[in-house]
Amino acid sequence: MHRWVRKALCGVNRTVGRWLPAGALSRTVPGIPGPVHVDDQMYRSDAPEHVRHYVEDARSAMENIEQSLGAVGRSFDDVRSCLDFACGYGRVTRWLVRALDPERVIAADLDRQAIRFCSHAFGISTVRSPCDPARVAIRDSYDVVFVGSLLTHLPVSECAAALRALRGIVRPDGLLIFSTQGESCLAHLDWYGPEFVAAADEFRTGVRRDGAAFVPYRGRRDYGITIFTPRAVEALVEQDAEPALRLVRFVERGWDRHQDVWSYQRAAESTVTRVRAGSPGAFASASAPGAARSRGDRP
Ligand SMILES: C[S@@+](CC[C@H](N)C(=O)[O-])C[C@H]1O[C@@H](n2cnc3c(N)ncnc32)[C@H](O)[C@@H]1O
Repeated sequence: MHRWVRKALCGVNRTVGRWLPAGALSRTVPGIPGPVHVDDQMYRSDAPEHVRHYVEDARSAMENIEQSLGAVGRSFDDVRSCLDFACGYGRVTRWLVRALDPERVIAADLDRQAIRFCSHAFGISTVRSPCDPARVAIRDSYDVVFVGSLLTHLPVSECAAALRALRGIVRPDGLLIFSTQGESCLAHLDWYGPEFVAAADEFRTGVRRDGAAFVPYRGRRDYGITIFTPRAVEALVEQDAEPALRLVRFVERGWDRHQDVWSYQRAAESTVTRVRAGSPGAFASASAPGAARSRGDRP
């Protein structure tokens, strides 16, 4: 599809798309399971290398999820529910519904058109997320919450707010898996666009001084490119004590040789055990194994 045609159709989607049938602006692309939406920004073009990249990125995400489950002795069979948070137009969702079945996959995004498409294309439930991550108010909880390539784009304070909200919707013993861009990305700022090459000093200074730096896309304030040191990510997670999270897997550039992948396990629910003590009615709290906070090994 010619890029001007695509640009025009994206314009249609963003203006009157909500009045069109949910599948109207999508089509089949050989090698990709399920329909691909014209406004899927993860799908760059029909060029074979871009199609291959779209598929490889998604496969790599699935391998990371599978290996994270493996790190806590589980597999996809053990997952009753998986939330694909910031799902976009379903680059990863389409593979999740193959590994799990659609009833066990839920997708969330702030883009109404994206979740409408995902619901229609993959037969899954969806949740609309508010713009402000601090206001994420998802009532259910999930065995796996996967957040692919969102904290790579938000200001640092919003990353903290998103992590705070998302950790609360992971079931006890469940996994929160997310990606970030690490310091290694400073070496290829051109991947993100010339404005980020021009901001190289700003990135380097921020990362050196604060462990993290965010530079917005042109014309945006709250969406851009975010780079974190591993220590800064750990500090973000550690700044909220509850519910306790334990790092069980970290792979630098683990997502398709680009983004760092973090997998945290939520502590099992504390069990309150009555014990005999000096004074009648005394209680002691015994946490289940895995509840302790610790740093996982870095491969
Ligand atoms: C880079 S895309 C990643 C999409 C998908 N996770 C993937 O890897 O293919 C980022 C997505 O985050 C969504 N997003 C941005 N801010 C969000 C928020 N506050 N809550 C939920 N989704 C958000 C955008 O609409 C977009 O679909």
